[in-house]
Amino acid sequence: MVVSKRMEPLIKGSSAIRMLFEEGKKMALEYGPENVYDFSLGNPSVPAPAIVNETIGRVVKESESLYIHGYMKNAGFDEVREAVAGYLNRRYGASYTMENIIMTVGAAGGINDILNIFLDFDDEVIAFAPFFTEYRNYVKMAGGNLAVVPADYETFQLNIDEFPMYVSEKTKLVIINNPNNPSGVLYSAETLDRLQTALEKAEEKAGHPIYVICDEPYRDLVYDGAEVPFMPDHIKNCLSVYSFSKSLSLPGERIGYTAISPKCDYISEVTAGITCSHRIGCVNAPSLLQLTIKECLETRPDLSVYDTNRKLLYNNLTALGFECLLPQGAFYLFVKSPVKAGKKAESSAKLVELGKKQHLLLVDGTGFGAPGYVRIAYCVDTAMIERSFAAFERLAAECAQLNG
Ligand SMILES: Cc1ncc(COP(=O)(O)O)c(C=O)c1O
Repeated sequence: MVVSKRMEPLIKGSSAIRMLFEEGKKMALEYGPENVYDFSLGNPSVPAPAIVNETIGRVVKESESLYIHGYMKNAGFDEVREAVAGYLNRRYGASYTMENIIMTVGAAGGINDILNIFLDFDDEVIAFAPFFTEYRNYVKMAGGNLAVVPADYETFQLNIDEFPMYVSEKTKLVIINNPNNPSGVLYSAETLDRLQTALEKAEEKAGHPIYVICDEPYRDLVYDGAEVPFMPDHIKNCLSVYSFSKSLSLPGERIGYTAISPKCDYISEVTAGITCSHRIGCVNAPSLLQLTIKECLETRPDLSVYDTNRKLLYNNLTALGFECLLPQGAFYLFVKSPVKAGKKAESSAKLVELGKKQHLLLVDGTGFGAPGYVRIAYCVDTAMIERSFAAFERLAAECAQLNG
């Protein structure tokens, strides 16, 4: 291999997702797109709100092109950072200043900035299963290792009881994602307070502060009037990572921000690090989109389609005997594999395989650190969900037959 040894496993790992995608495309050609039920990707199915597109047009028309298209401070336009800080202060009673806000290339950009700034070679980041699969790759690329606290399979809340076992002097960061991809669970204020207490003990053991990346691209995608706790109210060393990929359906535009809690230990050093000019080679977040989201901070996503899909899938799948929690946020359903097998990983792998036979594309929970479950992304056309129920029914029958 000509690529680095560090990248080798990442390249091999990514081909599994590519294969699923390619398989879906092949199936669509063979059986017709209306007979394939692709639940694999978290790509929003709801179009970006009209105001976002109008604002892009207006920004281009009204600003001087040199200003819109030019380099700027690495942390982003001052006026945009100021607007984000003001918005968060109004919404949550927080006390951010512009200095605490760094405009990023989506949530992925924000997370990678932090990992690269904090990690020395072989340092550790702790994630709680189930977690967004890419964390493993991001941490590896930053030279660190991901330690995974096993899932609490009853609730899919943070498994704080087992967290202390994963803490060592190498622990630099913890990463949590609320609401959660893939479980759809929302971490309660009580869970977050328990995490803070556990972190204080962990810091004593590690001998240094531990910072928490609060990855929140789904913060505004919650149902039934649920409220996402404001993380810095619960977590002291809180580095909040937000993205407009899901809330404004802009994943290809790559825009988000990191908000550094003013209560963080060594705040000046942390801020200087995260704003430093070498931020993973991308210099700054896209300028046109920064100026656009500044005008759209109060815009809320239309959740009606996701909510309809969520209830439709949950009601129908549970009626077929599948077990899952009703998601409180994001747009994923995490379903327990009914296949009896010696190991949880075999059970979910088998369900994925049987699903493909019914043209259902489901993602194995093993990659999310929760073997025995599969993820269904319901950010899809409602009509496709309705068409898929006969396939799910055949899948349930096949599982029952296999279990004997
Ligand atoms: C939990 C989580 N974090 C981060 C990301 C990356 O988001 P972005 O497109 O903003 O980089 C995703 C995307 O699916 C995600 O689900």
